[in-house]
Amino acid sequence: MKEKLIQIIKEAGKILIEGYYEEKNVNFKAKKDLVTKYDVGIEEFLKEKFSQEFKEFNIIAEESNNDNIVFNNSIIIDPIDGTTNFVNQVPHTCISVGVYKNKQAYMAVVYNPILDELYTAQSGEGSFLNGKKLTVSNEDDFQKSLISTGFPYTSGTNEDDLEDVIRKIKSILPKCQDLRRLGSAALDLCYVAKGVYEGYYEMNLKPWDVSAGILILTEAGGKVTNIKGEDYKMFEDKYIVASNTKIHMKLLSNLNA
Ligand code: IPD
Ligand code: CA
Ligand code: CA
Repeated sequence: MKEKLIQIIKEAGKILIEGYYEEKNVNFKAKKDLVTKYDVGIEEFLKEKFSQEFKEFNIIAEESNNDNIVFNNSIIIDPIDGTTNFVNQVPHTCISVGVYKNKQAYMAVVYNPILDELYTAQSGEGSFLNGKKLTVSNEDDFQKSLISTGFPYTSGTNEDDLEDVIRKIKSILPKCQDLRRLGSAALDLCYVAKGVYEGYYEMNLKPWDVSAGILILTEAGGKVTNIKGEDYKMFEDKYIVASNTKIHMKLLSNLNA
């Protein structure tokens, strides 16, 4: 399955590259939440190919109506993660696909065709960037840790969420090396897997933002929990907290301070 999955996603990457350099018409799902014809086009392409090739899986995808789809043996697609970057030609954008068997992460692909970075993982078999094995960083000093985060679209409309974002930055920023907000949750998780960041947290993510990145990170030796330190549940938890494992407790305690 892996080779076929990668082949299809690489094909879809050509649509992303084509759109990246074009003038784009943007539609607004919400004040800060964008969608282009490329998000929809890539999603349609992937859904068609996956339903032909992988008949034993149903498909949950960002731009589709997922109301009657039961999460179990599922392929979860974000056709473009980092659409704001895509629209503005910031090269931190990707296609993210997570494959689940009995609700357990089985296979994952995150592909940034602009930088030609292909992240892959399979349960129990490690994770790779362009075929090279990934391992999280060894840093265990929180003060020396580079932490990534994201700002939820709801920060434009929901005062409580905005306050929470600010409160957490106030608590974390003085205690870590620095903070980053690059605009793709899927790639943020891959960057922790790669050892670029020591940690990452964000609120209000959707399953397609993280369905692939979670496996890529855990297979590289990282840890992913909710804000209480319990196993992260994609369809339920408000906060995701991810790390190289070593700084996880510190990250949690600083977020909860
Ligand atoms: C978004 C990106 C961003 C995160 C947002 C996501 P999209 O996904 O992952 O980094 O901060 O919360 O919704 O809309 O570009 O697919
Ligand atoms: Ca996304
Ligand atoms: Ca998206």
